[in-house]
Amino acid sequence: MSSDGAMPIVERYLADRAPRFVDELKEFLRIPSVSAISAHRADVRRAAEWVRDQLESAGLKTELVETEGHPIVYAEWMHAPGAPTALVYGHYDVQPPDPLNEWQTPPFEPDVRDGHVFARGATDDKGQMLTHVKSVEAWLKAHGSLPVNVRFVIEGEEEVGSNNLDRFLAERREQLACDVAVVSDTSQYAPGIPAITYGLRGIVAVEVTLHGPRQDLHSGIFGGSIANPCNVLARLIGELHDAEGRVQIPGFYDDVQPLTAEERRGFAALPFSEESFLKDLGASAVAGEQGFSTLERRWARPTCDVNGLTGGYQGEGPKTIIPAKASAKITCRLVPDQDNDRIVAGIEQFFRDRCPQSVRLEFKSYHGCPATVCDVHSPWMKAAQRAIEVGFGKKPVLIREGGSIPVVGTFKEVLGIDTLLLGWGQNTDNLHSPNERFSLDAFQRGIHASAALWQELATG
Ligand code: BES
Ligand code: MN
Repeated sequence: MSSDGAMPIVERYLADRAPRFVDELKEFLRIPSVSAISAHRADVRRAAEWVRDQLESAGLKTELVETEGHPIVYAEWMHAPGAPTALVYGHYDVQPPDPLNEWQTPPFEPDVRDGHVFARGATDDKGQMLTHVKSVEAWLKAHGSLPVNVRFVIEGEEEVGSNNLDRFLAERREQLACDVAVVSDTSQYAPGIPAITYGLRGIVAVEVTLHGPRQDLHSGIFGGSIANPCNVLARLIGELHDAEGRVQIPGFYDDVQPLTAEERRGFAALPFSEESFLKDLGASAVAGEQGFSTLERRWARPTCDVNGLTGGYQGEGPKTIIPAKASAKITCRLVPDQDNDRIVAGIEQFFRDRCPQSVRLEFKSYHGCPATVCDVHSPWMKAAQRAIEVGFGKKPVLIREGGSIPVVGTFKEVLGIDTLLLGWGQNTDNLHSPNERFSLDAFQRGIHASAALWQELATG
């Protein structure tokens, strides 16, 4: 069936069903699918089944794929011979909701206020991902077919490093053949300024533990005579950056691709107010590597950050001890062409070189993924730009982002495809924070843009 003139029928379907879509999003958000917490294992599975059922009733062929961790939802509709194939990726797992007492309404009881739905996962990624499910439903129910072939891969381990996804993609490499990936797990540039993200930073995550005495000791009796792991760790962490904000890990900048003049101009041309940036974050001043703008620091320069620091007494009131150990969780955000293994080795080297004999260093490496940058001139990019204009009434700006989505690199490496990162939310929607939210207007516009995308990708 030709899809010429189908959009008005699809749009009509979307407009009529808008309230139901919101109800369904709320139902999805009530499932506490926290992938990091084992007590939520059954909830995570329930979320997978919910997504599977949605795709099944939309008219796709579906499969719940078991992994060593949480299941992957796979679905396809492959009845547009000769037309391109798009692969939609998203995740149904969410970050832990803590700290709970900072939520205005409970994280898994979605509440609508100020035009937003508030719940953990509202934007990251349940609400954004659902837009593609609903647009496909609209095409299949209202028009009877899609102008392109589509595959869906919706996983449940994105927030814990996508450990079982690579294997799934490698094993099904041939079955998953497609032309372009579509992911809505980033943000718009700002309210009223839709964006396509063409680059993401990579990441490495490690944990460093310093062991001192066998157990905590009286700091009066023994203090001053043996090393305090907290003191030592604090000193080492202090040496991670120099006074100019440059990371001191050996070899850290060796493979960093410098920003091109063209890209610097592109970033500088985007509207950016440092004042409102600081106000949004409740921070008093910007900080970072000297010689770079805030957008450059966030999108195209590598970082090293302590995510958590533990050691010694954490309870109420004072306590006089030499702690037995201290540890730091550390992540580095990476840019092209930094190599993950080299960076991890460099971090370990940094600590080993400086660690005194008086403490024992334990080093652990967790997940990681490389940075990615996609071709901004591809026909898929052009199609996505037109689709966003249909949904949001404005041409999108091209941006990079500082966050990481591990699968984007894998898509390039294993399937040989670029990814269209089409974010409908805002970075101020409290992702990974209390009171996460998603604009219901962005939800409906995102569905609309997604519906237009299938048409535009077919047009080429
Ligand atoms: N959706 C985010 C990534 C994101 C958000 C990118 C906004 C750009 C703009 C994703 O769910 C996420 O948080 N990823 C993790 C990956 C990590 C656990 C490997 C991240 O970036 O910390
Ligand atoms: Mn996400």
